[in-house]
Amino acid sequence: MDDLATPAGKAIAELKTVLGHRLATSISVRDHHSHDTSRLKPHLPDAVAFPRTEEEVQAIISACAAHGVPVIPFGAGSSMEGHTIPVRGGITLDTREMNKVLEIRPEDLLAVVQPGVTRKQLNVELRETGLMFSVDPGADASLGGMASTRGSGTTAVRYGTMRENVLALRVVTPDGIAIQTGSRARKSSTGYDLTHLFVGAEGTLGVITELTVRLHPIPEAVSSAICAFPTVAEAVEAVIEAVQYGVPVARVEFLDEVAIAGVNNYSKLDLPVAPTLFFEFHGTPAWVEEQARLAEDITRSHGAIGFRWTADADERAKLWQARHDLFWATKAIIPGYDLYTGDICVPISRLAESIVEARADIDASSLTGQIIGHVGDGNFHTAYLIDPNNPEHLKEAEELADRLVVRALAVGGTASGEHGIGMAKLKFMRREHGKAVDVMKRIKAALDPLGIMNPGKMGDSG
Ligand code: MLT
Ligand code: ZN
Repeated sequence: MDDLATPAGKAIAELKTVLGHRLATSISVRDHHSHDTSRLKPHLPDAVAFPRTEEEVQAIISACAAHGVPVIPFGAGSSMEGHTIPVRGGITLDTREMNKVLEIRPEDLLAVVQPGVTRKQLNVELRETGLMFSVDPGADASLGGMASTRGSGTTAVRYGTMRENVLALRVVTPDGIAIQTGSRARKSSTGYDLTHLFVGAEGTLGVITELTVRLHPIPEAVSSAICAFPTVAEAVEAVIEAVQYGVPVARVEFLDEVAIAGVNNYSKLDLPVAPTLFFEFHGTPAWVEEQARLAEDITRSHGAIGFRWTADADERAKLWQARHDLFWATKAIIPGYDLYTGDICVPISRLAESIVEARADIDASSLTGQIIGHVGDGNFHTAYLIDPNNPEHLKEAEELADRLVVRALAVGGTASGEHGIGMAKLKFMRREHGKAVDVMKRIKAALDPLGIMNPGKMGDSG
């Protein structure tokens, strides 16, 4: 769509001279950028730009600002709540060609990367260094996207989320200016913390063009453990005690019996069908054994059945691959059905009751659903299986997911632990943040007075 009479057409015509074929207007490319992994209604952008440099990002934003055209930053497209859907058209800015690891500084435990670098790509490039980038949301997401959604995943309980792992950024603001936020120092007491304003801003305040991220030493020894429980409550209470006791688990994942049945079927495992915890411990060989022993004592005192631990790399890899394949395992429970997912986080002391209530709510509904969780952080996901041709199913799933959020907010939790606001959770912004939403709106208006950055999303909360 490059009709010169429209604002988007004018911006596209200008940008073609800068980007050439890296400004795509074909239906297939626009279609690929019209949706994310959610089941929210797709919407086509007018064009998709593939910049390679910060200067090109500046040119795109300046052209869009001049003509009042939306800019939608896009990483790997793996977001789950509609973050990248161009609901008001405009130009999607895909960072896939900004995919260089610019610098690795092992002595400072940091790396400097362009925003299109994916987490797996960075870890491959770190192989020789003995260091790792820890944040692991499951999908091979881009680091720019992960920063923008303040992503996390299975290892956050030990190494933190993107909030803890981004030291500094370069950002092009909506007026086309490139700024540096933060520094290479591990801490600083200077200025407003702009780095963490952009981390989690979901592309509504600017475009991240460079990230300085923390690295962590690859542990000398890694071991995993798995155990099942008679009830959901006992499994979760065991985790709460382990966390409160200070066992430094690297990962602790909860899967309810529906999820375990799905994993057994999809990943050809033979786990007892019961609420289950997967643990991972990092440290020296003696220390991981000690951590596993502590976890065994705690889980047994909460009724765990058959605590099994292993330091065998293949067995471990199989277990974690099964965890990462859960999305597909769940989809396979009823072939042809879609997943409607929920994601909340609560204070750890309220986690057991929250999961028990979520399970009871699913059981009382007409839907099949499961619960999995990054439970060491108090974060869990529900997945409801819905027939895409049955509007009643969608309505019921929405009601279940909404009730989940309302209960989380009532106990001091949040509407999303890691999947973000996107479009699906917009309706909860005011309920969670109250008058603070007005402060967010003032920040948005100050930085983006034309409202071009990812409009219809978090920056436009009601
Ligand atoms: C996960 O924990 O696997 C991710 O957040 C994605 C999902 O919930 O399906
Ligand atoms: Zn998750």
